[in-house]
Amino acid sequence: MDTLKDTLISAIRTIPDYPKPGILFRDITTLLGNASAFRRAVDQLVYPYAGTKIDKVAGMEARGFILGGAVAHQLSAGFIPIRKKGKLPHETVRIAYSLEYGIDEMEMHKDAVQPGEKVILVDDLIATGGTAVGAVSLLRQMGAEIVAACFVIDLPDLGGRKKLEEMGVKVRTLVEFAGH
Ligand code: PRP
Ligand code: MG
Repeated sequence: MDTLKDTLISAIRTIPDYPKPGILFRDITTLLGNASAFRRAVDQLVYPYAGTKIDKVAGMEARGFILGGAVAHQLSAGFIPIRKKGKLPHETVRIAYSLEYGIDEMEMHKDAVQPGEKVILVDDLIATGGTAVGAVSLLRQMGAEIVAACFVIDLPDLGGRKKLEEMGVKVRTLVEFAGH
């Protein structure tokens, strides 16, 4: 049966022991390279918000830029790049965040969002939630209203979705992989 979930799952490549032994890396480059799967993933991320007022889509560097840019275009919304530190030229807000396999800092321009603007957060995958929690914190610090956080892939065993929900964020994911 060719359900949307089956299509997306079979378009995602799994690479064992990358970038570290024991990690099963869920690689979306194969999904991005599959025109039909890419279109269906973006359509599925977008459809609940069609016809509603979304001011901006925020995407996390790097994979969140690809999906978030496509979602913003479909919704006729602006796009906010949330970048790894040191890449943005104007005044920024910065936050440290933890990853499944490391620690880093992310930042966004202070004037990227106005208080009260409705924002959707988009990334390819939620694992521990460190990246998304950091992004939500930056956006809320600047007064954004987070309408939802949307991901193609959820790794539920790593607990990220639950962390976001505990912060009062509505979470949407398209497929799940048990384990990590
Ligand atoms: C990956 C993925 C998510 C994040 C999820 O990004 O694209 O952004 O990890 O993990 P978390 O829920 O545990 O925070 P990564 O930082 O590896 O880099 P990339 O997007 O630049 O490839
Ligand atoms: Mg990423």
